[in-house]
Amino acid sequence: MSEPRFHVLDDPAEAVAELLAAAAARGESIVLTGGSTPAVAYERAAVLQPDWSAASVWWGDERCVPPDDERSNYGLAKRTLLDRLEREPEIHRIRGELQPADAAGEYEHKLHGVHLDLMLLGLGPDGHILSLFPGSPQLDERERLVTSGEAGLDPFVDRVTMTLPAVFAAGRMVVLVDGPEKAWAVGNAFGEEFTEDVPARLLLDGTAPLDIYLDEAAAANL
Ligand code: 6PG
Repeated sequence: MSEPRFHVLDDPAEAVAELLAAAAARGESIVLTGGSTPAVAYERAAVLQPDWSAASVWWGDERCVPPDDERSNYGLAKRTLLDRLEREPEIHRIRGELQPADAAGEYEHKLHGVHLDLMLLGLGPDGHILSLFPGSPQLDERERLVTSGEAGLDPFVDRVTMTLPAVFAAGRMVVLVDGPEKAWAVGNAFGEEFTEDVPARLLLDGTAPLDIYLDEAAAANL
């Protein structure tokens, strides 16, 4: 069981930026998350460590849209991190422009035999991680490392997502979450008392170190 280590901070994004910069300097394989929360952490990581040439970056999930679509998780990282670096990492993009199952199959093949050092995760207000939404069949996948399926929250486009086996195989899990709108999900995912079994609670079934970086507002129900 992974016992979560909570880091309740005024500025959790800064702490995660420091983790990312250090991991990049060590040449690690880093899995980036999407959504909006990580943007500030990515921008600051690029300032802290402009040389990511020894590292490789992957994505935990992707919306099935072209890379230049504003909803693309690759596009978010490109704008806030990759384009700001002096030396880019090895970039392993999920090709969201393909048919979802084809993109998932291609990424599964790429991931085969790769050790992922750092798995960065966000947390949805419904308690989802990656694109593993409450009640979605993708949650039950225990063989494949990557799968695809429908979104359970906006943006309602099909998704390609790493699965729990991929998360559990990573060297460490780091969750970045902030804001009062995530307090319910944080409490149900990591709290002693919880009312609903949300996908993020499955992270406790892992064995790798699990660090949760959050602000006071998101930690209100812990
Ligand atoms: C995605 C993300 C997803 C995200 C959460 C939180 O594709 O949307 O990978 O898992 O981390 O939805 O998103 P916000 O940071 O925007 O709240």
